[in-house]
Amino acid sequence: MKKDLISIEDLETQFIFDILDLTKDVKADRAKYADSLKTKSIGLIFQKPSNRTRVSFEIGMVQLGGHATYLGPGEIVMGVRESVKDVACVLSRYIDGIVARTYKHEDVQELAKHAMVPVINGLSDREHPCQALSDIFTIRERFSNLKNVVLSYIGDGNNVLNSLMAAASKIGLDMKIATPYGYEPRSEMAQLTKTFAKVSGSKIEFYNDPKAAAKGADVIYTDVWVSMGQEKDSAKRLKAFEGFQINEKIMKLAKPNCLVMHCLPAHRGEEIADSVIDSKNSIVYDQAENRMHTEKAILLKLLK
Ligand code: CP
Ligand code: NVA
Repeated sequence: MKKDLISIEDLETQFIFDILDLTKDVKADRAKYADSLKTKSIGLIFQKPSNRTRVSFEIGMVQLGGHATYLGPGEIVMGVRESVKDVACVLSRYIDGIVARTYKHEDVQELAKHAMVPVINGLSDREHPCQALSDIFTIRERFSNLKNVVLSYIGDGNNVLNSLMAAASKIGLDMKIATPYGYEPRSEMAQLTKTFAKVSGSKIEFYNDPKAAAKGADVIYTDVWVSMGQEKDSAKRLKAFEGFQINEKIMKLAKPNCLVMHCLPAHRGEEIADSVIDSKNSIVYDQAENRMHTEKAILLKLLK
C-alpha cells in the first residue's frame, strides 16, 4: 500500500526514527544513493512561494537519479481549473509521487485520498511535517542524547509549531512553548501533543510569556509572525507579537551557548534580531541544508 506524509500525527514513532537514521546516511554518503530513484519522477504542486522546500525536493530528486516537475501557482491551478480529485487521479497516471504546498490542509488530504502515488505535505496552513523531521535531525546532530534537552519555541502557534511539537512529543524531546494570547496552537494540536508526550515521557509546557519559555533553553526556535496567506492581518499580528522577538535580552535567559533555530524565510527585525540570527550560536543555515538530506530520505522511504 502507498504511504503518504501528510501530518506528523499519522506517523509511527519508529518511522520518524527510520527517517532520521536514513537522513544521516544520505548526508554522509551522497554517492551511495545516486541511482536509487532512477526512472522515478515527482510533481511539485506549489500554491505558495518556496525556496527550501521546492529546491530540496527538486534537486534532491535529481541527486537520487530521478526527475521532478514543478507545478507552480499559475500552472495547474488546483481546485479552480480542475478539482483536487481530478488532479490527483491524472497525475497518478504520469508520476510516482506528489509534493504539495497548499493553503488548505484539507486539499493535501484530498490529494492523498485520491492519488494512487505517495503524497507529501510540503506545507499547509496546519502543518509543515518535512520541516519538523528535518529540524529534529538538526537537533540530534548537535546533542548526542536528547534526554534533558529543552527546545523552546517562541512565536506564532502556526503550522511549523504544530508539526514541531507533534514530532518532539513523539520522540521524547522536551519543549517549552510561548505564544501570545489568541495565537496559541489549535487546541486539537495541543491535545494531540499532550497525548503523544504521555507515551514518550517528554515534558511539553505552554506559556504566554516568552521569558518563561526562554529560561533554561538549550535551543530557541522561532518562525515568522505573519505566515503566507495571512498578509491582510499583518498590522494586527505585529502588534500582538510585541515582546516576542528573539533578541539578546531573551537569549540571556537561556542556557549559555543556547542554539538558535528558524525555519526561514525570516522577517529580520520582527520575530528575530539580526544580532541573534547572525550570531555564532545560530544554526539556521545548517537547518536549511538539512532539509535537502531529509527530503531525500523521505523520497527514498516513500518511493522506493
Ligand atoms: N522553511 C521552508 O519551508 O522554506 P520555504 O518556504 O522557502 O520552502
Ligand atoms: N509559517 C510559515 C512557514 C514558512 C516556511 C508560513 O506558513 O508561511
